[in-house]
Amino acid sequence: MAEELIISTTSDKQTRYTILLPQLESLVAGEKDITANLANIAAALKQTMNFFWIGFYIVKEQQLVLGPFQGPIACTRIDYGKGVCGTSWKEKKTIIVPDVEKFPGHIACNGASRSEIVLPAFMNGNVALILDVDSDKENDFDETDQRALEKVMRIIEGFLGN
Ligand code: SME
Repeated sequence: MAEELIISTTSDKQTRYTILLPQLESLVAGEKDITANLANIAAALKQTMNFFWIGFYIVKEQQLVLGPFQGPIACTRIDYGKGVCGTSWKEKKTIIVPDVEKFPGHIACNGASRSEIVLPAFMNGNVALILDVDSDKENDFDETDQRALEKVMRIIEGFLGN
């Protein structure tokens, strides 16, 4: 396991993601425990990208239940189809919300959140968990984030047992 994360000093987020992704792969290589790996991925993304809030919601007993995260305390349970996370679960796709106030049913776990991106990871064709990233700035996520974070979801699927 890597002992220290190498973080690019550039403000270019594509470069930051490019340097991070192989490190995430080695961070989870050799460790099977899902919670340990999700915790390190959340920490590595927070350290590298300086997100306001980043964390996982795990599908458990027909709900999304809060998992490893970095940032302020958050809602613990989200129902299927509710909020951005529950909608991503239902629609099985990435959702970028440029302005949370314009997303009907958005769940405000923290009043400072202004925009977010939510992505699902799959196991046997079903959504197993959701990655939620929040920003305190409007319109802070784009296709660069989507492409890179979708690669993170594929890394996660590798240790979910696919
Ligand atoms: N805003 C999310 C809820 C989770 S928190 O932002 C951490 C939603 O609408 O699903």
